[in-house]
Amino acid sequence: MSLSERLDQIPPSGIRRLFELASRYPDAISLGIGEPDFDTPPHIREYAKEALDLGYTHYTPNSGLQMLRGALAGKLRSENSIEADPDRNIMVTVGANQAITLALAAFLRAGEEALIPSPCFVTHKAAVTIAGGSAVEVDTDESGGFSISSESLSRAVTKKTRCILLNSPNNPTGTVLSRKQLEEVATVAVEHRLRVISDEVYEALVYDGNSHVSIASLEGMADRTITINSFSKAYAMTGWRLGYIAADPASIEKMVKLQMYLDACPVAFAQYAAAKALGDPRSRKATESMRIEYQKRRDRIYSLLRGIRQFGVSKPGGAFYIFPGIGGMDDLRFSEQILEKAHVAVVPGSSFGAAGKGHLRIAYTVPSEKLEEAVSRIERVLPGIL
Ligand SMILES: Cc1ncc(COP(=O)(O)O)c(C=O)c1O
Repeated sequence: MSLSERLDQIPPSGIRRLFELASRYPDAISLGIGEPDFDTPPHIREYAKEALDLGYTHYTPNSGLQMLRGALAGKLRSENSIEADPDRNIMVTVGANQAITLALAAFLRAGEEALIPSPCFVTHKAAVTIAGGSAVEVDTDESGGFSISSESLSRAVTKKTRCILLNSPNNPTGTVLSRKQLEEVATVAVEHRLRVISDEVYEALVYDGNSHVSIASLEGMADRTITINSFSKAYAMTGWRLGYIAADPASIEKMVKLQMYLDACPVAFAQYAAAKALGDPRSRKATESMRIEYQKRRDRIYSLLRGIRQFGVSKPGGAFYIFPGIGGMDDLRFSEQILEKAHVAVVPGSSFGAAGKGHLRIAYTVPSEKLEEAVSRIERVLPGIL
């Protein structure tokens, strides 16, 4: 099947559709968008200006600036316990979004299957289709805290299975996999000789004193894991379009080849600023203060939603999403109704796969007062919807 035909198979994004609808209501509170409401910290913006003045206005190597890959190697070693050679194991990408497609395209062959714990980030399924593979959703549910079990993963493995696509902390559920849970996934991967693509873009947003674990750092996983990360969420740099990949040299070589033909390289001055940001202690401080604010909002929205009798809600451990169940109601109809009647935009859970049905994804990327206002608007219109 040609790429054009595969693109026809990908349904339009439910998130985009909701935003189009929401634009009709100027007073709408949007809890739909998955991006930080903070601006990029000032010192990082200054580094971008400095880069322009220094002449970072040309193409860079296809794999990204050497200075950024070097800084990333240090970060991966100290924060993720991943040993990566800047010249062989690391490449800089145009956001994590593109990195996901590059990663799948690097090894998936036509018809091979990728296991994806569901609900899942919309790009993950689409990227498998673009790469010519077949996405197999492995359902998780609220009673299990949306964690993936090794039994359900093993059950889904067939002769065609080639990889597992992991995302912890998770979009849309906010679930954080513990070291033990990751070890179980690693055991399945090793036993069935599967690759793991680990999307870790929310690694900096983990709450309650827990910390993020990279599956590539676990025994037997270094060579079979493609780790994907980004500056978007940790540094509030979504518009800079800057991500990165750590992987084995053969995969990096192939992904760099594809990036070369797609966009030559990520933006030069953004790369310079990111490299400087990694070496500047102010960046860590900025991330930490955003994390603390998100955790406060998480606590607030969790307690507000628990107050709605019809909703079932589990407390997310990371990212900036909460994923309440809405008591068996149709999530598409429900989100349209609260948009029309309460002017609150949320994303229907079924946009994130079959296991998301009957849920809503709420992004707490607005201040707490707005969360309060949104929930009281929803409560007001609820009797007319039920
Ligand atoms: C799980 C996940 N991965 C990747 C991305 C894309 O990140 P980037 O802005 O780096 O392309 C997002 C963005 O929402 C996301 O939620």
